[in-house]
Amino acid sequence: MTDIDHSRLRALLAAEQAEYTAGHPRSRELFHSATHLFGRVPMTWMNMWSGGFPLYLDRAGGNRVTDVDGHTYIDFALGDTGAMAGHSPAATRAAVTRRAVELGGLTTMLPTEDAEWVGAELSRRFGLPLWSFTLSATDANRWAVRLARLATGRPKVLVFAYCYHGSVDEAFAVPGPDGNAVSRPGNVAPPVPLDLTTRVATWNDLASVERELAHGDVAAVLTEPALTNIGIVLPEPGFLEGVRELATRYGALLMIDETHTFSAGWGGATRAWGLQPDVFVIGKSIGGGIPCGAYGLSDDVAAAVTRHTDAGDADIVDVGGVGGTLAGNALSTAAMRATLGEVLTDAAFTHMTTLATAFTEGVQATLDELDVPWSIAQLGARAEYRFVRPAPRSGEESAAAADEELDAYLHLGAANRGILMTPFHNMALMCPETSRDDVDRHTEVFRELVGALYT
Ligand SMILES: Cc1ncc(COP(=O)(O)O)c(C=O)c1O
Repeated sequence: MTDIDHSRLRALLAAEQAEYTAGHPRSRELFHSATHLFGRVPMTWMNMWSGGFPLYLDRAGGNRVTDVDGHTYIDFALGDTGAMAGHSPAATRAAVTRRAVELGGLTTMLPTEDAEWVGAELSRRFGLPLWSFTLSATDANRWAVRLARLATGRPKVLVFAYCYHGSVDEAFAVPGPDGNAVSRPGNVAPPVPLDLTTRVATWNDLASVERELAHGDVAAVLTEPALTNIGIVLPEPGFLEGVRELATRYGALLMIDETHTFSAGWGGATRAWGLQPDVFVIGKSIGGGIPCGAYGLSDDVAAAVTRHTDAGDADIVDVGGVGGTLAGNALSTAAMRATLGEVLTDAAFTHMTTLATAFTEGVQATLDELDVPWSIAQLGARAEYRFVRPAPRSGEESAAAADEELDAYLHLGAANRGILMTPFHNMALMCPETSRDDVDRHTEVFRELVGALYT
């Protein structure tokens, strides 16, 4: 097992950087002329791309993205899951065009019949009986956290260190020296100290979950079925069952966020692993790229909420803090119906998962051949390598394995060879149009880039 030679890494990165800069003059020019945008980008996250400036999009379709300099990429980033159905899938495009162009009525605060179809489909896949829509997974989490507090009469949320659930104030927590929740590094101006809203546990550590739940003030355990925002950290056998059992024992709800882990299959990890959430959240991919999100409630949670609304001590219809003007609009429900009904089908997941397995095997072959001390984890249609072996067991272990220079080298090296990886760590996602040739091209490029580092 060899450690990285960082001076060699820096030289390789400089060469990739020079090639990237020289090859993308138009993107660079557009970035530098964007003087009316905060951070020169439409949304500050777009500065995550390595290379000093982002690629500017010209067009995209399926799993191909073309930039304004005329380069076309095999896209494994897929909008960080927003485009898991592929870019502008035909069925979604047709449904959106019908609503936008033929029927009209993009946002009216009036329901359309698509919404009930989508609710029924979400129930079929994930099991929860009652659904409500939002415009992002962040909002679905925020509103569902409020409902969980209302239903239980408890103030706090339990999350796992280095989780990510969107810009949900309560979730930016890591354990402090005495185990109490403190802000994770970089958290922008939290409204109150995190230990007032949050309890934090360590992934794959049931003792830490029980210790925090035992305080008796947790409304909901909010978790992904696998951590996916600090690399992929899979649950060990029995962990999720243990969390479910502890939540029940200590009177907390189990709130499962499948925004990313939907990659596990047609019914997400919830169906694949038989999870039993009380509250369920999803977003990003289900609208095929049109803004949307959803949360599902069990009958018991819905009844507990309704008891309060009937009694008049909470308002979910007007200005009580649950809802958004454009949520559930006709365009996004039409997009969800088409995407779930015709694009993200069971057959599509079978294809995508087969390819993610081939991707994982391709990466593992290089790691084995060159004895590189990294690991790769797969979750259905998604795979991700991490610079540590064996694979990390917790968010804390995975965070310790981060290496920004190595990320930048691999991202730029891939981009210069026609491959886009997600700018956040090294996630690769398959969509229905991804092909075996695309995966093999990644295997080849990965071997070349890692070979330059390790031989
Ligand atoms: C698990 C999870 N939940 C929620 C979100 C928030 O999604 P959005 O940014 O679309 O609101 C993300 C975003 O990465 C996520 O990974």
